[in-house]
Amino acid sequence: MTVVEVQRRRDPDAVDQVLKSLPEWFGIDDAIAGYVASVVRRDCFLAVLDGDVVGVALVERHFPESAELALIAVGAGHRGSGVGAALVHAVSETLRAEGCSLLQVHTVGSSFENAAYEQTRAFYRRMGFLPLQEFDRIDWDGPTLVLVMQLVTPPASGSKAAAPGSG
Ligand SMILES: CC(C)(COP(=O)(O)OP(=O)(O)OC[C@H]1O[C@@H](n2cnc3c(N)ncnc32)[C@H](O)[C@@H]1OP(=O)(O)O)[C@@H](O)C(=O)NCCC(=O)NCCS
Repeated sequence: MTVVEVQRRRDPDAVDQVLKSLPEWFGIDDAIAGYVASVVRRDCFLAVLDGDVVGVALVERHFPESAELALIAVGAGHRGSGVGAALVHAVSETLRAEGCSLLQVHTVGSSFENAAYEQTRAFYRRMGFLPLQEFDRIDWDGPTLVLVMQLVTPPASGSKAAAPGSG
């Protein structure tokens, strides 16, 4: 398994380089430029291997309790060797430590047939994200699947509480 170090620092050029290696997912120059520009306002995690950035994740904190994995991408030559999982783990551990309970992610929904995004959905499910709802035209002209991951397990409800109808 590839051993990567995940660093929390901003590097717009690295984001640009990783996204440009993945034209099946990021084939629109304006979309890449939008992600690169968003690095200044989003939390940025970089997967570094032998000094090179091989993967990126951008996180947006909408509320203190919840965050969005706004982007995750692993350079084409490094996919499938644990880099994406290392990024998700680093992001979720960081958010957990900061008291954040929920992480959401958006991707292309299955009602739009596309082999590349089928792989993306399989990765998110493997990482523990659960599908919440498919929306139409919220991020692009087609369907968006919203998935969520619970980062903190809520405390069990008090065992002394009376069951409904018992009193
Ligand atoms: C999706 C992506 C971030 C995953 O990163 P990765 O480094 O390739 O994935 P990993 O090697 O860390 O895989 C982690 C786990 O997910 C599983 N997984 C990854 N891709 C999978 C697929 N296509 N089908 C089934 N399982 C998959 C792996 O088998 C692994 O499971 P394991 O722990 O049981 O071995 C990366 O492949 C990528 O950048 N894809 C293109 C861009 C993209 O889809 N970005 C997100 C949406 S815009």
